[in-house]
Amino acid sequence: MTESIIVTGGAGFIGSNFILQWLAQESARVVNLDCLTYAANPGNLASLSGNPRYEFVHGDINDRALVNQAFRHHQPVAVIHFAAESHVDRSILGPEEFVRTNIHGTFALLEETKIYRNGLHENDRQRFRFLHVSTDEVYGSLGADDDPFSESTAYAPNSPYAASKASSDHLVRAYFHTFGLPTLTTNCSNNYGPFQFPEKLIPLVIVNALKGEPLPIYGDGKNVRDWLFVEDHCSAIRRVLHDGRPGETYNIGGGSERHNIDVVRTICRLLDELRPDSPFKPHANLIRFVTDRPGHDRRYAIDSTRIEQELGWKPQVTFEDGIRATVAWYLKNQKWVNDVTSGSYRDWIDIQYAQRAGADASGVKS
Ligand code: NAD
Ligand code: DAU
Repeated sequence: MTESIIVTGGAGFIGSNFILQWLAQESARVVNLDCLTYAANPGNLASLSGNPRYEFVHGDINDRALVNQAFRHHQPVAVIHFAAESHVDRSILGPEEFVRTNIHGTFALLEETKIYRNGLHENDRQRFRFLHVSTDEVYGSLGADDDPFSESTAYAPNSPYAASKASSDHLVRAYFHTFGLPTLTTNCSNNYGPFQFPEKLIPLVIVNALKGEPLPIYGDGKNVRDWLFVEDHCSAIRRVLHDGRPGETYNIGGGSERHNIDVVRTICRLLDELRPDSPFKPHANLIRFVTDRPGHDRRYAIDSTRIEQELGWKPQVTFEDGIRATVAWYLKNQKWVNDVTSGSYRDWIDIQYAQRAGADASGVKS
């Protein structure tokens, strides 16, 4: 029988990029377990229709009977755990779902993984891996001159999202130490690229700018994020899965720290260039400084020394190349954009942005 891996949350942004890359580069089959929340889009994987190496299982990681059945049926050699609630602003307006999926869901998955692995023959038990995909947000916020987050930085999560991911990281750690489950944890910086749901900064700005709608910048726009092209994240996860040391954590970063305002201005310049006939040119005129996110972390930066030195991984895509490719992807995939921004997406945008006081592109509050 061909080997399988189980990917949770594979219909979301990073998960679908991961599955496409995996099937192009690796031999094992992929079983995608996803309950299809608002953030999921099975259409991301439409190109896999009829592919015998891909199977979709519609289900919730909290549903232990279903997860148990998936393990018994597919006998995976590894689990790659992406499934999560992932948007910080949603965790501020409604944290409960974050606790349910990110904490309880990870617990349920760990329990079923432990039971499944305990039933394997010795060789298979030794080979099995559980890779938990986590975030740099668990480390909290950096000042302008602070050293980047390393794997030994103390956890200091500030948002309900970050706290729920930190909690899941601790559970994963405990299952390694207490039960000997061969876990691997990756803590990654901000991803961007194709298939990202337009609630996150980069796709939101592209989508709004194309429609001539305001580009909302929280606070003074000087918050810093370290941007990583999603395909580089996916290749890092594969490297950790194959060569990482069980029980270990690996920080993954793009080495591309940028102020939010600079990211948005870059997107505007690219749109001016790629859409020269746009009635909304120059797109930077659409920028509006709005009320800040509560508890907004000032700066994230990643020290990727461990994964670079131990596993020989480095990002391959510069921010300049990646953001150009991303803007071009959204321009080329207008149907995808229209599909994901219909219906409940509009409700979210109304709730999320209606309350935020506006200002013009110079930063002057109106
Ligand atoms: P996403 O929100 O785009 O996708 C999440 C996916 O998980 C969706 O397909 C959703 O349907 C699925 N899901 C949610 N709850 C589920 C449940 N209870 N059972 C089964 N499936 C469920 O997220 P993303 O941006 O692709 O992030 C994937 C993972 O990577 C998350 O764990 C996130 O914390 C982590 N991460 C994201 C980033 C980033 O910049 N996006 C950076 C670092 C780490
Ligand atoms: O660092 C990794 C994390 O990156 C992941 O774990 C999260 O899943 C992912 O959502 C992302 O979190 P951020 O909060 O950094 O991403 P977001 O795209 O929401 O915001 C990026 C920055 O842009 C942040 O400083 C807030 C700001 N922002 C965001 C939105 C949506 C704005 O200024 N305006 C906006 O409208």
